[in-house]
Amino acid sequence: MAATQVKKGRLLTGDRPTGKLHLGHYVGSLENRVKLQDEYECFFLVADYHALTTRPSRQDIAEIPENIREMVLDYLAVGIDPNKSTIYLQSLVPEVAILHLLFSMLVTVPRLQRIPTIKQMARDAGLEAIPYGLLGYPVLQSADILMVRAEVVPVGKDNVAHVELTREVARRFNYLYGRVFPEPEVLLGRFPILPGIDGQKKMSKSLGNAILLSDDEKTVTQKVMRMYTDPRRIRADIPGRTRGNPVFIYHELFNPNKEEVEDLKRRYRQGRVGDVEVKQKLARALNQFLEPIRQRRAEFEKKPGIVEEILIEGSKVARREAQETLRLAEEAMGLTYFRRREVLVG
Ligand code: TRP
Repeated sequence: MAATQVKKGRLLTGDRPTGKLHLGHYVGSLENRVKLQDEYECFFLVADYHALTTRPSRQDIAEIPENIREMVLDYLAVGIDPNKSTIYLQSLVPEVAILHLLFSMLVTVPRLQRIPTIKQMARDAGLEAIPYGLLGYPVLQSADILMVRAEVVPVGKDNVAHVELTREVARRFNYLYGRVFPEPEVLLGRFPILPGIDGQKKMSKSLGNAILLSDDEKTVTQKVMRMYTDPRRIRADIPGRTRGNPVFIYHELFNPNKEEVEDLKRRYRQGRVGDVEVKQKLARALNQFLEPIRQRRAEFEKKPGIVEEILIEGSKVARREAQETLRLAEEAMGLTYFRRREVLVG
């Protein structure tokens, strides 16, 4: 696609800096991001304020810099290109906190309490009651999205409710003050929830059932060889189920040799193939898929300071957008009776 092509609109998405990304992130959102870079003006945010909603301790915070680095390296490794897209750090764009505050006036507490992901996050973090900041998680996310007036938000299924809230916030704001914000659309990945290698519903680093984008060949092979399959199939000559079987889900998603996948599925259902063969072929396919990602990661890892530089440059770009959006929002609201700029400069 030509570099001069006019881009269709804005796209924003991001992740909390919890560390290295895995195959679930890839099919849930990363591959969409890479594909859409030429079509949309893209913003990818590292949501470090969001990380504080469940992990605010000094020790948690001390882990953030390393997590940011690993995550941005994964972005670069899969092909997110800082020359095409803006990668930025949420806390370097403090205007988002002001927009979050303004939006918080437009959302009710019961509306937020009904969002299931928030309760789940509190439970997972072992919290008895929901902190005010965690309740506001989706409001802050709305501020991220609307701060750049994004129209498209590629996320996994667990974030759909947050984008729905974002649409409501935009609608409410526009209704009260005049049209400033678009109502952004969710873009789901080709496989919204990838199961873990243990057969649990969702791949997750904290559950220890993930294949990381940065895992080396040996690690990937070991993880695949101990994957959960059809538990009723205690011998290779027992017919097995391929539907909902993680080994076959991964084959379909990552093995480009469709004939091989169809052949394995057929034989598996007939009880004519052992798990070992199915898994060996999957390990090979996954390693082939991951190899260029590992290589790109290694290239970026060699360049000292590259991640910091990308984030600082990206945050400057995002911040200009944020200031412009905040100005538009405050003007629409009539929050202009004192001029902030004069006070800040003077
Ligand atoms: N909620 C996202 C997650 O699950 C992170 C996030 C924060 C985000 N702000 C966003 C995603 C804005 C999309 C758009 O980690």
